Amino acid sequence: MLSSLLSKLAVIIVVALVIHMTGAVYGSSAASDQLALLEIKSKITLDPKGALTSWNDSLPFCQWRGVACGRRHRRVTMLDLQDLGLVGSLSPYIGNMSFLSYINLGSNQLHGSIPPEIGHLYRLRSVYLFNNSFTGEIPANMFSCSKLSFIKLQYNKLSGKIPNAFSSKSMITVLHLHTNHLTGGIPPSIGNLTSLEELSLAYNQLEGSIPDSFNQLKNLRKIGVGANGLVGAFPSFMFNLSMLEILSFSENQLQGSLPSNLCLSQPHLTWIGFGSNHFNGFLPPSISNCSELEVLALPNNYLKGEIAVDFGRLQHLNRLSLAGNKFGSKDRDDMNFFSSLSNCSNLEILDLFRNQLGGVLPNSLGNFSSKLSYLALDSNHLSGSIPSSIGNLLGITTFFSSANNFTGLIPESIGKLQNLQILYLDNNHFSGVIPRSIGNLSLLTKVVLAGNGLEGSIPSTIKSWKQVIALDLHGNKLSGSVPKELFQLTSLSIALDLSQNNLSGVLPQEISNLKLLGTLDFSMNRFTCELPSSLSSCTSLENLNLSSNLFYGSMPESFISLKALEYVDLSRNNFSGHISMYLQQIPLKQLNVGP
Ligand SMILES: *[C@@H]1O[C@H](CO)[C@@H](O)[C@H](O)[C@H]1NC(C)=O
Ligand SMILES: *[C@@H]1O[C@H](CO)[C@@H](O)[C@H](O)[C@H]1NC(C)=O
Ligand SMILES: *[C@@H]1O[C@H](CO)[C@@H](O)[C@H](O)[C@H]1NC(C)=O
Ligand SMILES: *[C@@H]1O[C@H](CO)[C@@H](O)[C@H](O)[C@H]1NC(C)=O
Ligand SMILES: *[C@@H]1O[C@H](CO)[C@@H](O)[C@H](O)[C@H]1NC(C)=O
Ligand SMILES: *[C@@H]1O[C@H](CO)[C@@H](O)[C@H](O)[C@H]1NC(C)=O
Ligand SMILES: *[C@@H]1O[C@H](CO)[C@@H](O)[C@H](O)[C@H]1NC(C)=O
Ligand SMILES: *[C@@H]1O[C@H](CO)[C@@H](O)[C@H](O)[C@H]1NC(C)=O
Ligand SMILES: *[C@@H]1O[C@H](CO)[C@@H](O)[C@H](O)[C@H]1NC(C)=O
Ligand SMILES: *[C@@H]1O[C@H](CO)[C@@H](O)[C@H](O)[C@H]1NC(C)=O
Ligand SMILES: *[C@@H]1O[C@H](CO)[C@@H](O)[C@H](O)[C@H]1NC(C)=O
Ligand SMILES: *[C@@H]1O[C@H](CO)[C@@H](O)[C@H](O)[C@H]1NC(C)=O
Repeated sequence: MLSSLLSKLAVIIVVALVIHMTGAVYGSSAASDQLALLEIKSKITLDPKGALTSWNDSLPFCQWRGVACGRRHRRVTMLDLQDLGLVGSLSPYIGNMSFLSYINLGSNQLHGSIPPEIGHLYRLRSVYLFNNSFTGEIPANMFSCSKLSFIKLQYNKLSGKIPNAFSSKSMITVLHLHTNHLTGGIPPSIGNLTSLEELSLAYNQLEGSIPDSFNQLKNLRKIGVGANGLVGAFPSFMFNLSMLEILSFSENQLQGSLPSNLCLSQPHLTWIGFGSNHFNGFLPPSISNCSELEVLALPNNYLKGEIAVDFGRLQHLNRLSLAGNKFGSKDRDDMNFFSSLSNCSNLEILDLFRNQLGGVLPNSLGNFSSKLSYLALDSNHLSGSIPSSIGNLLGITTFFSSANNFTGLIPESIGKLQNLQILYLDNNHFSGVIPRSIGNLSLLTKVVLAGNGLEGSIPSTIKSWKQVIALDLHGNKLSGSVPKELFQLTSLSIALDLSQNNLSGVLPQEISNLKLLGTLDFSMNRFTCELPSSLSSCTSLENLNLSSNLFYGSMPESFISLKALEYVDLSRNNFSGHISMYLQQIPLKQLNVGP
């Protein structure tokens, strides 16, 4: 009885002593909390919102803005000063507030280093210093705060190595260090963090490989290490981590093949981002099993072969990017996977740019999600015609289909794509006339139909293209005169390129409407007229190419006002007189007025 009472007493005394001692070591008392707060305030050089005016003697410090205390002991437990525009540095006195469990100074303009005294705060659970201008190294002892769970230091200018100081006793759950200037390797001791759920190291200058010790991170849900200089093979630690949701390794130099059992042990994956690495080999068909997948982004690798994934099972798929790989074999079976995408009712972005896909574009395109907004098929080997079912894709804003082997007509149904802004069909074998329905697309900004076999005249319906900034129809077989509606498109600014067609007629005075236009190329047509003096109003013109036409007469004097001109080619026309007289006064980079 007595002995157990005594031993209880002894425990109480020891505990009291420890509390007293830790207090003594760091000068811990309510008074030192107040002093620490005032020291913190004194290091703030600018407080634009007057957030700290309440930090004065008229109120007990527990009532100061952003300060919270424990109810009984009246010691500071929380300091929340997020997004108050505070400028200054962080006082080391913060390490004296030994009851602090929550520090949030995020989204201010604090500079200088993170005081290592933070490492004294053994009750600290959350430290949020993100989105400031902190410099210097991350203090190693910070990670030894035994209760520390949430660390957000992203968006600063922290440099040096990440301390290799993570203990297996640590309770760190969230570690966000992205967008800093951290260098060196990823510390293997991160593998000790068995509670870790989120790890973000992206946008630093980290080197070396992803440590094998990561296979112990059983609770890891999100890992982002993109935009660093990491090397090595696909990290095998993955295979054991069944909680993974987000896996982002993009923009590194990782290599080797993707694991054939990807998605088999990670049923919760929503995001696979491996773009811009050196991965090779095939696309694992097991990806069909990632039924929660929203983003599959593998662009700019060396992946090849058949796309043997059944996307139909990926109901949540929102973004699929396989661009810049070597998928396909220029063969007619290459697009067999495509129809399975029509089951993905959340698909918004489909990017197959620059692969080796052959075959025809399946008619099932018309059954794709009406949310589909971005469709890039350019630089492949697709042939046949564009199915008219494309007219069902009412959500499309961007359609890239350049540099394939497409033939036939541009489908009339394209006129239904009311949201289309960017249309590239150049460098194919399209024939026939440009459909009049294209004029329905009043949101178009860039239209590139160059390098096809399009015939007939330019439809006057284009008058509704009130937002167009670039129109490139060069290298077709267009004929007739240019509709005057074209010269009403005052938004044209980047380029109007009608060169290498069979267009005839005159340049109307209305060309003066194109005041923002930088490049005007009408070369290699059959225009016959004197140059309209109003051309001098196109004062943004940098490149003017009228070569190889039937222009005649002399150069209007007013051309001296074309001050932006850099390149002028008037060669191979029937001009008379002193063509270059006025142009000579403009400092051109290149002037060709030859016969
Ligand atoms: C608090 O911290 C500062 C700087 O870290 C130190 O100089 C001071 O002695 C500490 N103690 C008290 C009671 O303020
Ligand atoms: C002190 O804080 C009180 C309470 O917020 C405030 O009303 C007062 O203006 C402050 N005094 C000074 C001198 O800033
Ligand atoms: C960073 O902080 C600034 C204010 O200093 C704020 O305007 C901005 O939205 C913040 N950015 C992020 C990513 O939190
Ligand atoms: C933490 O991890 C490192 C490297 O993986 C290891 O050497 C060390 O023993 C671990 N420490 C503890 C305390 O778990
Ligand atoms: C997976 O975890 C088990 C223990 O849970 C371990 O024995 C095995 O080595 C791990 N495998 C990999 C590839 O890390
Ligand atoms: C999907 O998972 C099931 C069950 O684990 C497996 O039998 C099947 O082969 C997997 N499918 C693919 C394409 O890997
Ligand atoms: C399409 O999705 C449905 C669920 O909405 C599913 O039952 C069906 O099997 C899927 N079809 C294919 C071809 O995967
Ligand atoms: C499109 O969907 C409809 C209805 O689900 C179906 O009958 C039709 O066969 C599909 N068309 C193509 C080309 O897949
Ligand atoms: C286009 O098709 C022609 C004939 O079918 C073929 O010779 C050519 O290589 C193809 N071009 C591309 C880019 O696939
Ligand atoms: C599109 O344009 C054509 C021809 O210019 C016109 O007949 C049609 O009504 C327009 N509207 C739609 C939705 O296609
Ligand atoms: C160009 O158009 C004229 C009629 O304007 C026609 O006689 C001539 O054959 C056409 N040339 C080409 C190459 O299409
Ligand atoms: C003008 O166009 C012709 C033919 O389209 C081309 O050969 C020439 O290089 C161009 N001149 C300049 C200055 O770009």
